[in-house]
Amino acid sequence: MMKKLKIALIGCGRISYKHVQGIIDNKDECQLVATCDVVLDNAVKKKEEYLKGIGQDEQVTVYEDYKQMLTEEDIDVIALATESGYHEDIAVYALERDIHVIVEKPMAMTVEGAQKMIDVANERGLKLAVCHQNRFNPPIQALRQAIEEGRFGRIYAGNARILWNRNENYYKQAPWRGTRALDGGCLMNQCIHNIDLLQWMLGGQPVKINAMLDNFDHPYIEMEDYGSIQVRFANGAIGNIEGTTVVYPTNLEETLTIIGEKGTVKIGGLAVNELEFWRFDDNYQNEESMMKSELNGDIDNVYGNGHTPLFKDFIDAIHNDRKPYISGEDGIEAVKIILEAYKE
Ligand SMILES: NC(=O)c1ccc[n+]([C@@H]2O[C@H](COP(=O)([O-])OP(=O)(O)OC[C@H]3O[C@@H](n4cnc5c(N)ncnc54)[C@H](O)[C@@H]3O)[C@@H](O)[C@H]2O)c1
Repeated sequence: MMKKLKIALIGCGRISYKHVQGIIDNKDECQLVATCDVVLDNAVKKKEEYLKGIGQDEQVTVYEDYKQMLTEEDIDVIALATESGYHEDIAVYALERDIHVIVEKPMAMTVEGAQKMIDVANERGLKLAVCHQNRFNPPIQALRQAIEEGRFGRIYAGNARILWNRNENYYKQAPWRGTRALDGGCLMNQCIHNIDLLQWMLGGQPVKINAMLDNFDHPYIEMEDYGSIQVRFANGAIGNIEGTTVVYPTNLEETLTIIGEKGTVKIGGLAVNELEFWRFDDNYQNEESMMKSELNGDIDNVYGNGHTPLFKDFIDAIHNDRKPYISGEDGIEAVKIILEAYKE
């Protein structure tokens, strides 16, 4: 039996319950030993949430200062869910102390910052994973498999649409939202998951990127609330990205469509978790309806259920000394596309 990995959570805000759940769901292989937040009460709440979830008493220490925590505690992995602009410094600090890192998206606010995280992890033989948890959605996994099996023939194009609504209350929840230094706009915050999926499916390096951005309806944020990006990949495929938080009056869609020579697939739902269209010329009858009933499942919100398999994969990556399924090298690609668009 492998030793249980000791995990510390840094940043105990809105998304952190998914990390706590990911640890609870993998409790035979890992345990939460410490929580940290500059607002101590947030760290205390996460400790309580975890203890309630595992249904037994364990030692979980709470901290306000992550440097103190990483000095005092024996920690194998940090799960990092602070404001995006702090990811790089905290991740590098942990990696330099030989601690593996699971980091929320976007992994960093600059390409150089993301690259530094990757380099330090690789130099020290550590694992670095980025929370693009939608990659684990069953329809997304099926699409990826169809691509790997060559069912599309030549892939011509794809599009990623996130047509959402985020109002003033959302942006005013915390001062970091919509800022250039700590968050970015709708492309960097909300759309990055779908941009990650599009570039993963279309494959290869971007050779040309065009973008148009605007802030139509959120004058109190620094960054864009609407973004349109066209990407030409080295293999010739064209990606179209439309991402926004201005849709009236509520979220409208999050979809990913892949258009190939011999197939078309569209995935939608609350967070690209529902197959909408699945056709291939090698289709046998009823494949689409079979796939829909097999793969389409309910999720409670746009965060989906992907943190649990992401933690499971990460633990396995450490034990088997392999790259995590969504590595730093994967996570940097969407950051690159978005930052290129921000130059327009
Ligand atoms: N994967 C997803 O689907 C998803 C969804 C939402 C948010 N996120 C990402 O997760 C991150 C956090 O987002 P959120 O909505 O939970 O934000 P949040 O503001 O609710 O939480 C951030 C927390 O980090 C704490 N913090 C800040 N600096 C710290 C430090 N030095 N040490 C310890 N704690 C510190 C804050 O006090 C706060 O409690 C962002 O990068 C965001 O983009 C990802």
